[in-house]
Amino acid sequence: MEKRFYVTTPIYYVNAEPHIGHAYTTILADFITRLYSLQGYDSYFLTGTDEHGDKINAAATANNSSPQEYADRISAKFRSTWDEIGIKYSDFIRTTEERHKKIVQEILQKVYDSGDIYFGSYGGYYCFGCERFLTEKEIVNGKCPEHNKEPQYIEEKNYFFKMSKYQQWLIDHINKNPDFIRPERYKNEVLSMLKSEALEDLCISRPKSRLTWGIPLPFDENFVTYVWFDALINYVSAIGYPNDEKFKKYWPVAQHIIAKDILKPHGIFWPTMLKAAGIEPYNHLNVHGYWNMEDAKMSKTLGNVVTPQDLVAKYGNDQIRYFLLREMTFGLDARFSEEVVIDRINYDLANDLGNLINRTFNMTDKFFDGKIPEYGKDMASKNELKENLERCAGIYLESSSKFQTNIGIEKLWEFIRSLNKYIDENKPWQLAKEGNNDRLASVIRNLLESIYSVALLLSPIFITISPKIVEAFGVQNPEFSVERALSFNNLTSGQKLSKLEILFPKLEKTKAQEKQLSEPKAKEKQEETGIIEISDFTKVDIRVAKILEAERVDGSEKLLRLQIDTGKEKRQIVAGIAQSYTPEEVKGKKILLVANLKPAKIFGIESNGMLLAAKKSSKDRPYVIFVDDSIEIGSKLG
Ligand code: MSP
Repeated sequence: MEKRFYVTTPIYYVNAEPHIGHAYTTILADFITRLYSLQGYDSYFLTGTDEHGDKINAAATANNSSPQEYADRISAKFRSTWDEIGIKYSDFIRTTEERHKKIVQEILQKVYDSGDIYFGSYGGYYCFGCERFLTEKEIVNGKCPEHNKEPQYIEEKNYFFKMSKYQQWLIDHINKNPDFIRPERYKNEVLSMLKSEALEDLCISRPKSRLTWGIPLPFDENFVTYVWFDALINYVSAIGYPNDEKFKKYWPVAQHIIAKDILKPHGIFWPTMLKAAGIEPYNHLNVHGYWNMEDAKMSKTLGNVVTPQDLVAKYGNDQIRYFLLREMTFGLDARFSEEVVIDRINYDLANDLGNLINRTFNMTDKFFDGKIPEYGKDMASKNELKENLERCAGIYLESSSKFQTNIGIEKLWEFIRSLNKYIDENKPWQLAKEGNNDRLASVIRNLLESIYSVALLLSPIFITISPKIVEAFGVQNPEFSVERALSFNNLTSGQKLSKLEILFPKLEKTKAQEKQLSEPKAKEKQEETGIIEISDFTKVDIRVAKILEAERVDGSEKLLRLQIDTGKEKRQIVAGIAQSYTPEEVKGKKILLVANLKPAKIFGIESNGMLLAAKKSSKDRPYVIFVDDSIEIGSKLG
């Protein structure tokens, strides 16, 4: 079967301008589309704007605009933002376009004719932020927890979609297709919504007496369509449901990306709507966490900013793409901080990648007059390098296709770091001194081929810088593909390299950022005087243990419950790492355990020991110290 890929972002509301949260989802979709294209897929990427409903109407009124003028302006702003940051969407849909309105009406009529839409009366608590009635369970302390506002009681006659009819079907479908909603925590969340209460029918209209800004119901002109029933349909209207080739080609491979805020409409409303309309369900719903802006807000007072354009102007587009994709663990919330942006740029980009390229290009200049050398007889571990590249690239592609971009990118960095080590171990300058030109040529050629392959593989992230690197090698009509990258055989001997500017300049931290960093350091200093005896240290029994099972602790954002093997026995510990790692990520890994710690109850759960993790400051995320698999369980630290 032909390789095809279709991905969508949510269509964003036009009541506010694009910010870094919207940019993340859109960059993720752009990255994944480019990555699939790199693997030879015929890929399609849809984004757009959601323009009907109360919320937009209210924002337009507040801005003294008509809803249409207002929607035109903000929608254009979204589109120009994506254009400015190089987002290569295949289509940008607006729900006010005729092509969309027509399909919404067609689907409504179809579902109405089949008897799944009925007229009735309903009273309930309505949240204007969510644009939907909330169930009793969703109201916390009288408020909508998402918008921190009291929902309003509204009673009116409306049209309803028989969502309840499809409850069992959806439960079965999710159970039969474990990857339908991922990661698992969101699948479980949807299943628990479906199992814990009878699904209510969905109110899908608004009387025109209350709201006119919407798509008229085809079977009753006194009502407009509820905005979610309208918006979700964009995913099929944009590709020409029902008869276009595009629809037939891409819908069977459809994948949606959303954040956790809109899980219910996508995980429950949308599949049941599709079922009722006789359309196959989408393939995957990929759900990411939130970028937590606390720090960014804080830094606003320090003169820092979080709009996508400003960030890009300050740090570079490719750098921001790298940061966002590398830093967020898919499914979990992440902390946005410019301090970490700078660290990633300095350590990963300037030190690891930038240095590698610099050193290699300089050595080629010095030893080979800037020309790509032919391999010598001594291949200088060419096969090992190639195999390592294949292994790391394989994990990069596999993890990224499951949206675990942090794991995938880290794997590619493992390869990049191994190349720096390869230079240090092979000491080309010494080979030159010894006159071992044969091996020297192979070492440099290996490095150049490796860098070229890495540049191809990174091109979905570094949309500007990767082509620049590739260009420097003077390859005629370079083909950006995984196949070429893994061939490890792209360069022409004797070809002169072009000069490369510094690709990732190092950044200085501002005084304010340094101050933030130095605060915890001052505290550390006080503790530095507390020198201990070796006998104090040996009191602590630190040993290698293996995580057998991992699961989230119900009701806690931070904790994971781990079952571990210490070499002597199996035991349970509770660790505060859930905001940085998913259970799947740590399962099977080896860690360092403080084994003789007094047992404690954490969140009511017995914890027998503590795993070691490192953080730079109390605000930083914990980095668990994972131990190499070759070290045996039960080995003691000391
Ligand atoms: N219009 C609806 C979606 C309809 S889809 C048929 C909507 N729009 S929205 O403008 O509120 O966009 C919500 C989406 O924006 C999230 O699901 C997520 O993709 C993105 N994000 C908005 N804020 C975000 C963060 N702080 N962090 C991560 N993503 C964020 O809901």
